[in-house]
Amino acid sequence: MGFEEFQTPRGTRDLLAPLSWQFEAMRRLALEWAARFGYDLIETPVFEKSPVFLRVGESTDIVQHESYRFTDAGGDDLTLRPEGTAAVARAWVQHGLATAPQPVRLCYFGPMFRRERPQADRYRQHTQFGAELYGSESPLADAEVILLATRVVDAAGLKNPEVRINSIGCEECRPRYREALVKFFTERQDSLCEDCRVRLQQNPLRLLDCKQDVEIRQDAPDLADYWCEACRTHILAVMAAVDAAGQTIRRDRHLVRGLDYYTRTVFEVGHPSLGDQVALFGGGRYDGLSGALGGAPAPAVGFGMGIDRLISALPAPPQAEGAPRVYVAHLPGFDQEAFLLALGLRQQGMAADADILGRSLKAQLKDAGRRAVVALIVGGAEWEHGTVGVRDLVRGTQEDIPRDALHGYLAERLQGDRA
Ligand code: HAM
Repeated sequence: MGFEEFQTPRGTRDLLAPLSWQFEAMRRLALEWAARFGYDLIETPVFEKSPVFLRVGESTDIVQHESYRFTDAGGDDLTLRPEGTAAVARAWVQHGLATAPQPVRLCYFGPMFRRERPQADRYRQHTQFGAELYGSESPLADAEVILLATRVVDAAGLKNPEVRINSIGCEECRPRYREALVKFFTERQDSLCEDCRVRLQQNPLRLLDCKQDVEIRQDAPDLADYWCEACRTHILAVMAAVDAAGQTIRRDRHLVRGLDYYTRTVFEVGHPSLGDQVALFGGGRYDGLSGALGGAPAPAVGFGMGIDRLISALPAPPQAEGAPRVYVAHLPGFDQEAFLLALGLRQQGMAADADILGRSLKAQLKDAGRRAVVALIVGGAEWEHGTVGVRDLVRGTQEDIPRDALHGYLAERLQGDRA
């Protein structure tokens, strides 16, 4: 409804209740788990100087074609962040976190912007929960971030996510693989889709996860045959640690991911309810990124999780909140008393509402019936005698309760049911 020009831009949406509360509940859940794993919260600006993202994604779609890049009135070249890893790496370098006690564990929760083609579960503004672990080369660091992500997914109510993992090798072994891959696909160039012919020139590894040329890639050389000993040992140790923690993990030899900064470990998790091209979270190791941004080279690994997608995949999204559970109704002339009583209950930690539309008692109780568990009736002789009428809207009972016993009564009634 309304004029087209006053509606949300394509690929974006307003979050209204209860969805807005579900996002908030997910934020709390994710940050609580991150804190248990020892991650500190970091909030970077939603826009950065463009080179922060350009440096890390020369052949990355989200940087090349999908960025919201603009020049502001002062002539600064800025980009709305398409992802969090580069922004956190910039902060890591800028604040000299290489000299802080290691490892450094950071997490974030916030909006990302990509001008992608909107479709189900793909937005131009989406929310990510992410974690980045700096300073450890150990495969246990990779296992830790994978397990943090799967614990959050599990705690949100999505059981047994399957983690797919691969190693794209290191600077020593990847060039040899790349060469073999280019040879293989060049020989079959005529059968490739248009995008893959470009990839062959710019980023041949991405040919492996093309959704169109599935047949051809089946016979492509396997990275595992080219891993150096260190890369092989690393991925096997990551898988063993994740597996020992009871989390299903399997190698996917076609997994390469779409960002340029990865080295060795890459992983992704999907869910049947999202379709097989849609990931719930993804990440990997990126030991060269801080160096590319002008800092000391530091090993690092992390993930980003799509909260929009996680909520959409959940059979029962986390408990929403917001609706007042206690409704303070009043007889004519007692609107201020009801207003103040509701305020007092809120101060005691309850969610309470009172009428401010001058409605009749009947209309107030009807309203209460839609939203509250208990209605209080303020006014009349009961009020003069220091009591309040309490109507239990679920059980259908009514009784008078002394005002000074009200809090205890309500607290007990609403126990287990958030006030
Ligand atoms: P990414 O795979 O591009 O990785 O995004 C992470 C997650 O964000 C995806 O798995 C997906 O759930 C969600 N996501 C991405 N784009 C959209 C979209 N248009 N609409 C809805 N959800 C979306 C990264 O961004 C890396 N920074 C992850 C990382 C952290 N790697 C290392 N550390």
